[in-house]
Amino acid sequence: MSEFNITLIPGDGIGPEIVNGAVTVLDAVSKKYNHKFNYTEVYMGGCAIDKYGVPLPDETVEICKKSDSVLLGAVGGPKWDSVPSEKRPEKGLLGIRKALGLYSNLRPSILKPQLKDASPLKDEKLENGLDVMVVRELTGGIYFGERKKADDGSWASDEEKYSVEEIQRIGKIAFETAMLRNKRVVSVDKANVLESSRLWRKTMTELSQQYPEVELTHMYVDNAAMQLAINPAQFDVIVTSNIFGDILSDLSSAIAGSIGMLPSASLGATKCGMYEPIHGSAPDIAGQDIANPIATIVSAAMMLEMSFGLSEEAKAINNAVDKVLDMNYRTADIMSDGMTKVGCKKMAELIAENI
Ligand code: IPM
Ligand code: MG
Repeated sequence: MSEFNITLIPGDGIGPEIVNGAVTVLDAVSKKYNHKFNYTEVYMGGCAIDKYGVPLPDETVEICKKSDSVLLGAVGGPKWDSVPSEKRPEKGLLGIRKALGLYSNLRPSILKPQLKDASPLKDEKLENGLDVMVVRELTGGIYFGERKKADDGSWASDEEKYSVEEIQRIGKIAFETAMLRNKRVVSVDKANVLESSRLWRKTMTELSQQYPEVELTHMYVDNAAMQLAINPAQFDVIVTSNIFGDILSDLSSAIAGSIGMLPSASLGATKCGMYEPIHGSAPDIAGQDIANPIATIVSAAMMLEMSFGLSEEAKAINNAVDKVLDMNYRTADIMSDGMTKVGCKKMAELIAENI
């Protein structure tokens, strides 16, 4: 038996429902495989603003740091749109990524055959499928650069800055990820315009010398967006900056059918990672038991595999998800003709039953 301490950050909107769903599935895993998962729930985002006046209380950071990994739902919502920028719920998310040193964000998009109809692309564009891993730099770039604004409100600026070291360490993750996959890396930048992108491209090119088996190509971000839409199968691993990765991962997830399906892992120098669905808090459907818990459930599977080394257990979760989809159960976001519609809680229970 192994024992793991998991910090849960349910957050806002649909966050609590989908995290509950993931816990239902984790409990089924611990029962079947005889592990012990200890959960500690903490506040972050809008709910932390309401309770403590700040989006990321110190206590939350401390508890996350001490745990074996963190499972996050989502943060934010219109309720906190008017709070000052330094206190927005999203600040909490950026703060915890930085505090835990989670510089690498892995966002896989896989088109499941069961969900082909849910993809907005025509069948002919999906003939060769979609299986891409977006490796997004997560603690640098414009998200963390210097912000300025004029006192009179007449201008504002955000700085995009990358050091060689920051580019190298995310590059390494991308090349190593590619070695375990199809050995192709596309590095996405805007080197025809941005100085930081020229450094990015040069550094990736130099680094690629250490990975002779991996084919590295470069693509401008505008072209990459177009290529994803017209020929998504050409990609294996995409490595890119914080902001480009934010944008391209939403695009690749939409192509895979629904943003409600896709997980992510944020990792740093230690085994303690943070795992979260790539979608947001969806306040418009919160509390109605209609959200799709699958992205959070498969994020928990990534946690088992990448932070706890429990590959078999992770596979059991992914297989259970496939089985439930094969049984034609769907949440509202992936519903199509002839399928059985279920709510968030029921979907999680079905997956747990199939572990
Ligand atoms: C994401 C989200 C966040 C980001 C927001 C909520 C700050 O869009 O995780 O992709 O931009 O990183
Ligand atoms: Mg995003």
